[in-house]
Amino acid sequence: MNEVLARGADRKHDDDALPEKDGADAQSHENAPAHQSKRHDSAHLHVAGRAPYTDDLPEPPGTLHAYLGLSTIANGRIESIDLEAVRAQPDVEAVITADDLGHNDASAWQIGDEPFLTSGKVGFLGQPVFMVVATSRNAARRACRHAKIAYAEDTPILDVDQAREAGGRTVIDGMTLERGDADAALANAPRTLSGTMLIGGQDHFYLEGQIAFAVPGEDGTMIVYSSTQHPSETQMLVAHALHRPAAMVTLEVRRMGGAFGGKESQANLFAALAAFAADRLGAPVKIRPDRDDDMVATGKRHDFRADYEIGFDDEGGIHGVKFTYAARCGFSADLSGPVTDRALFHCDNTYYWPAVKAVSQPLFTNTVSNTAFRGFGGPQGMVGAERVIEEVAFATGLDPLEVRRRNFYGEGERNLTPYHQTVEDFVLPRIVDELLESSDYEARRQAIRQTNRDANGFKRRGIALTPVKFGISFTASHLNQAGALVHIYTDGSIHLNHGGTEMGQGLNTKVAQVVAAVFGVPLEQVRITATSTGKVPNTSATAASSGADLNGMAAKLAAETIRQRLVDFAVAEHGVPAEQVVFRDGQVQIGNREVGFAELVEEAYTARISLSSTGYYRTPKIHWDRASGRGHPFYYFAYGAAVSEVEIDTLTGEYTVERVDILHETGNSLNPAIDIGQIEGGFAQGMGWLTTEELVWDEKGRLLTHAPSTYKIPLASDMPRQFNVALAEWSRAHEPTVFRSKAVGEPPFMLAISVLHALSDAVASVADYTICPRLDAPATPEHILMTIERLRADSKTAN
Ligand code: MTE
Ligand code: MOS
Repeated sequence: MNEVLARGADRKHDDDALPEKDGADAQSHENAPAHQSKRHDSAHLHVAGRAPYTDDLPEPPGTLHAYLGLSTIANGRIESIDLEAVRAQPDVEAVITADDLGHNDASAWQIGDEPFLTSGKVGFLGQPVFMVVATSRNAARRACRHAKIAYAEDTPILDVDQAREAGGRTVIDGMTLERGDADAALANAPRTLSGTMLIGGQDHFYLEGQIAFAVPGEDGTMIVYSSTQHPSETQMLVAHALHRPAAMVTLEVRRMGGAFGGKESQANLFAALAAFAADRLGAPVKIRPDRDDDMVATGKRHDFRADYEIGFDDEGGIHGVKFTYAARCGFSADLSGPVTDRALFHCDNTYYWPAVKAVSQPLFTNTVSNTAFRGFGGPQGMVGAERVIEEVAFATGLDPLEVRRRNFYGEGERNLTPYHQTVEDFVLPRIVDELLESSDYEARRQAIRQTNRDANGFKRRGIALTPVKFGISFTASHLNQAGALVHIYTDGSIHLNHGGTEMGQGLNTKVAQVVAAVFGVPLEQVRITATSTGKVPNTSATAASSGADLNGMAAKLAAETIRQRLVDFAVAEHGVPAEQVVFRDGQVQIGNREVGFAELVEEAYTARISLSSTGYYRTPKIHWDRASGRGHPFYYFAYGAAVSEVEIDTLTGEYTVERVDILHETGNSLNPAIDIGQIEGGFAQGMGWLTTEELVWDEKGRLLTHAPSTYKIPLASDMPRQFNVALAEWSRAHEPTVFRSKAVGEPPFMLAISVLHALSDAVASVADYTICPRLDAPATPEHILMTIERLRADSKTAN
């Protein structure tokens, strides 16, 4: 372990250490245990294998197991389904098809383009056609193989190019963002260029796959344990499938073993089908696809083709940009509208485009319906923006960093985004300056160029700094609301529930820290409980990085309501002014008197004061009009920057990431250890997306990369040799977020774009930095090698 890692580890394991904050305000202490590096509330259970996930819940006697039978063609119609042999298999209790389902609509907003089970049209290879329920999972799974399904097969439309050739049908209307006259800017610019970039998709590869467990209750009620990021929507889909009011269905989620957006809508189908079978058979039913089926049958990150035209000058100033972002959406809309919208919202990244026109094309294809994935289209948009910078750098011969800084958002009109929201808190230049210093970027870049030239060996190094600006809020403004429920029991212990879900990101820990801070009690006094639609209703998905912002605030408000009652009680009882009632260190100061928190609670109970409250929060200021492409879709932005250094082997295309330096801001961090974990994890996942994770379909539409044997996520050994992650300690949200913290879940994912650009820098050395490598993503070793060969050939013809 190197020194840096050791320091990081130190900090994480020191539970009670309050990280030093430069110029820390009094708040840091005042809001303890918020802002402290507390361990994840389930860490001790995670490491001991004692944290129960849905599949670990005890199965009542008589529990049945379901498995899905999937289509074997990508496009066409089912002519006949013969499931007699399936029914005849041992231990099979039931076989369910579309004909059995009354309400057969899995689409999130009930737009009717995605059935639970299909009986007619087949939209992709791997689409669920029938469900087998048996006494064991293996029996159900084996029985599926005996189905005889006859298809009328059509040629599938598999990717963006084929979709365009076939007429460019979209799954939902595209969006346009426009500011200024991009055509005029391009016409008048001293120089122009245009190009295309392919940006790959990504499988979520959550460790815990999709799963749901439905247990029928009395009188037609149903409780469903589901690995879902969106319990309320899953509840509604179960209710629809059962033809029951939502009040008869309870969804419960204690934790997920990773979700990353893959369980925002994709969990619904499994939950609804399990509940349908449980209801039909009057028995608990569990459904869990194996890894291969999970990868084949559930949606992924959208891959994009970005076409761009740039007008610029010799000093690296960009005058105008035009973008078309075309996405492979799959056979149904799912979340493709908001995902492709968010790509456009990030086609600027940290840059002011003086004139810009960006258009999205959410294209229909005969592939699995793509869905949410960390960054939600933002990463793809941002990769396009960074390509524009890189093109201009190579065209002008300037250091890409120079071009970046020249085009950063600035003062006056230079702070207006393509969606006409003003960038008010542009702290990025400070982050970049500090990172340049701490990473020694300039000196290292010069040394790398020198060595690449002088040694002229087959190993080449590359380095790049890329920045991130990520918009925080759901762009569907109504989703920016949350609820919480707090109880205090008469012994002073606190029961906390909120609408967010825990997927490993530490949301519950952060929200508990907020509640503990309000009551001035130790964190251990706050008990976190499973997310349940029966406790907090009508919640939004835990997504868009907003979990702590929204639920933290709702829980804070609930706790403050109770605290106010306690204050009022103390004032009435002891005749002191309200300011003299202070909650701190598990004690309550009432004038000169100090009582234990539990003591005051007990007294309040005896005086018949309510010790329970809900809290409700909605994000202020935000609005968005998609048709006009104008509004204030984001409450604020989160910023960060990364410097990556790589080494490539120009004979094989293989590479290593030698060193990464990150400076990222999370406002007045609610929990620095958890935030650093999110930054490290997000970066690693982003690096996988841009380097080794490649999705390949054959010409029939069969996913060839459907298991870890063929789909390569980063390993521990792929991590940067040196990995220096720091929080910008001075950062504070400029809006009144919960204790001035900022969201952290998604933004760091995009710091990994620096790895792609460092690889590009290393590749460019083989043509003496005269040609922009135009490296597509993922930059797999094969792809790197082919790009090197292309550059070598091109530089020879140029000579
Ligand atoms: N971290 C872990 N460990 N597991 C996850 O599934 N999902 C990411 C991010 N970090 C995820 C994660 C995604 S896609 C989002 S939107 C946020 O966490 C959601 O949680 P938050 O809003 O509480 O940050
Ligand atoms: Mo995250 S993609 O918003 O679940």
